[in-house]
Amino acid sequence: MPALVLLGAQWGDEGKGKATDLLGGSVDYVVRYQGGNNAGHTVVVGDQKYALHLLPSGILSPGCTPVIGNGVVVDPSVLLSELSGLNERGVDTSKLLLSGNAHIITPYNVTVDKVTERFLGKRKIGTTGRGIGPTYADKINRVGIRVQDLYDESILTQKVEAALDVKNQVLTKLYNRRAIAVEQVVEELLGYADKLAPYVSDTVLVLNQALEEDKVVLFEGGQGTLLDIDHGTYPFVTSSNPTAGGACTGAGVGPTKISRVIGILKAYTTRVGAGPFPTELFDEDGEALRRIGGERGVTTGRDRRCGWFDAVIARYATRVNGLTDFFLTKLDVLTGWEQIPVCVAYEIDGKRVEELPYSQTDFHHAKPVYEMLPGWTEDISKAKTFGDLPKNAQAYVKALEEMSGAPISAIGVGPGRNETIEINSFI
Ligand code: GDP
Ligand code: IMO
Ligand code: MG
Repeated sequence: MPALVLLGAQWGDEGKGKATDLLGGSVDYVVRYQGGNNAGHTVVVGDQKYALHLLPSGILSPGCTPVIGNGVVVDPSVLLSELSGLNERGVDTSKLLLSGNAHIITPYNVTVDKVTERFLGKRKIGTTGRGIGPTYADKINRVGIRVQDLYDESILTQKVEAALDVKNQVLTKLYNRRAIAVEQVVEELLGYADKLAPYVSDTVLVLNQALEEDKVVLFEGGQGTLLDIDHGTYPFVTSSNPTAGGACTGAGVGPTKISRVIGILKAYTTRVGAGPFPTELFDEDGEALRRIGGERGVTTGRDRRCGWFDAVIARYATRVNGLTDFFLTKLDVLTGWEQIPVCVAYEIDGKRVEELPYSQTDFHHAKPVYEMLPGWTEDISKAKTFGDLPKNAQAYVKALEEMSGAPISAIGVGPGRNETIEINSFI
């Protein structure tokens, strides 16, 4: 059994952390392949709750080697404080592998993220302010700083100079900010070099050798399909590829190695930040989903926008990721509604549309077409098998499966590791 990808099928926060942790005990490596500390993945083990931002959720499974791949953008101060936070709680982090090719989020990238958002005003994206977009921009512009640059002071200095040459002009002349000193940045970055050194390695080689030895590798996506820079609701997206193909480029593993792509799908929909969201609710149902589902951002503490399940989006996620399975999460949150609306199609300018429109204008005008499914009132948090679920909950899952285009192989009925109904085994 070679490589599996586990990714968000909606706009992030689907429960990827919980799903990854659940599989952590049966896999040898868990790899983050894109994004950075914009992610916030929650794992609940017994009475302990962990919020992971940069580290793969597999770090909590003792037999598993956690890997930060080349496609990730790394804020060294966040990484080091996340590691020490886990160490203080007794988690062994010594096996972590960090790609020398991963790009570094520098202090000026964080500044540019915040300043750009402020200047966009009401057109802002609502980023997490962690410097993600500007760091990927530097990577594509070929003025990025990589982890390996921390080990050559001369190269590091030249690269920081090159990056700041232009940025300082923009910061001072356009945004009215103070210039950032090259020496200060270089000194700060060099300060991380020794602390990160034990983890830095050629992760592409390690992962490919592991696959040759039939080890099981799990790729854990950050964000979600609709936040993908190519396939999401551009420009209201993140600056990387959370979709399945991103696992190949972000870890240096060929697509022929990937046998399973699992989409994590919330039983309703949420979104943080700006951008279109056809099934968004502005009434007491939306408020109830937020309250019962605890829908508050793990990274920024912002309230998440909430709405009903959108099957058009789920079908789209199946297609662009080649999903083989879904892991449906948070079904328990829907307990208590007499009827549950599910969006089966959109109405755009008076026409019924079954698939996600590629045009931004159309998507902004999309109105959900709802089908009402009967709800249930029984507590489902103790359900262990599909048969333990009330008939209407079973019918809800089956209806979603039919509309979404891939089998639902697991169902989350609570945040804990064991609060899961496993239908088809993933490994
Ligand atoms: P991620 O970013 O995809 O890892 O998701 P987040 O951690 O940001 O948000 C998911 C939230 O839902 C977390 O608080 C999880 O503990 C919680 N969660 C995950 N699965 C379930 C589930 O099946 N039921 C309930 N009630 N909560 C869940
Ligand atoms: P996890 O991995 C939900 C959103 C931000 C913003 C947009 C761009 O926990 O699912 P960025 O800082 O990435 O440039 O912001 O993307 N966003 C997320 N939304 N969950 C996430 O991560 C997110 N990471 C970024 O809110 O709208
Ligand atoms: Mg999250």
